[in-house]
Amino acid sequence: MLILNKTAGVFFKPSKRKVYEFLRSFNFHPGTLFLHKIVLGIETSCDDTAAAVVDETGNVLGEAIHSQTEVHLKTGGIVPAVAQQLHRDNIQRIVQEALSASRISPSDLSAIATTIKPGLALSLGVGLSFSLQLVGQLKKPFIPIHHMEAHALTIRLTNKVEFPFLVLLISGGHCLLALVQGVSDFLLLGKSLDIAPGDMLDKVARRLSLIKHPECSTMSGGKAIEHLAKQGNRFHFDIKPPLHRAKNCDFSFTGLQQVTNKRIMKKEKEEGIEEGQILSSAADIAATVQHTMACHIVKRTHRAILFCKQRDLLPQNNAILVASGGVASNFYVRRALEILTDATQCTLLCPPPRLCTDNGIMIA
Ligand code: KG4
Ligand code: ZN
Repeated sequence: MLILNKTAGVFFKPSKRKVYEFLRSFNFHPGTLFLHKIVLGIETSCDDTAAAVVDETGNVLGEAIHSQTEVHLKTGGIVPAVAQQLHRDNIQRIVQEALSASRISPSDLSAIATTIKPGLALSLGVGLSFSLQLVGQLKKPFIPIHHMEAHALTIRLTNKVEFPFLVLLISGGHCLLALVQGVSDFLLLGKSLDIAPGDMLDKVARRLSLIKHPECSTMSGGKAIEHLAKQGNRFHFDIKPPLHRAKNCDFSFTGLQQVTNKRIMKKEKEEGIEEGQILSSAADIAATVQHTMACHIVKRTHRAILFCKQRDLLPQNNAILVASGGVASNFYVRRALEILTDATQCTLLCPPPRLCTDNGIMIA
């Protein structure tokens, strides 16, 4: 077991403490108008340029986002230099749009919060240098944000959730199970030993050429798989969930991707088509991959729930499981997790799908 790194890296540690001191120093003065603390959040860790203005009570005052999904679908995956350029092209406009929607003047902001890790270095760099320039111009405090901590804590915007709770973060770049004991206090229980589930779905969707499918051409790989799976038969073929003998809470998705690739090649031979053409059984393959992934995620999460309850790290009844990240917007995965939480006297909470994928609100 590992303790997840605290939010700030060495470079940012002193300034983060100063930021907290600054934020705590706001007092209510009777007789004067009380202004909520207002934070501008900026996110550029991967392929979304996002910004939002949120006040301290969780009101979203303004939001804007530019998704690069369509461009990256065409290049068959994220090319970091392309992502960097797109962030550069859009960040000024997106921050301006979020501020305009909020009707907050930049000088009224209390602080600027920006994702500093983890993510693609070139993408993170754009958000960071833009923010630091703004911080310098406006003389505002800077709050460095850990992308995964932001995903984990987003639920507190929509639901009243007390610590401790269990969090499952499943996205395109990450896969982890952690016990959240405080705002910056995470106990890592399990992680992916190879790729993340969203990455696996993106790769399968690419191998199935779903970008050429008329119903899926603008969808991310994961969303395309979810969409097609509704029309497919998950019993069409059988794949064993990975790591079924491993007595821990880790995940693995590379094996599932490779087995699926082999099935696709076999089907292409049977149907007499080339790679790049749509298989008639694409929906069945999507349904099987989605089901196997969901089974694996549920089994590892079940182990984490049992572990935490045995050690009294979570309450025996009504313990909270929060599922977040892009893959947690998948309704099949959510339903599977709901069956698990019902069976273990836990409660499943998921942010609404638009707050599961990357956004500026979670950073603010
Ligand atoms: O959290 P996110 O927006 O970015 C990362 O931090 O990775 O997650 C993006 C990932 C992509 O891999 C995408 O294919 C996947 O989440 N995703 C989905 C769905 N919507 C997005 N996976 C499964 N079902 C969905 N509906
Ligand atoms: Zn994310």
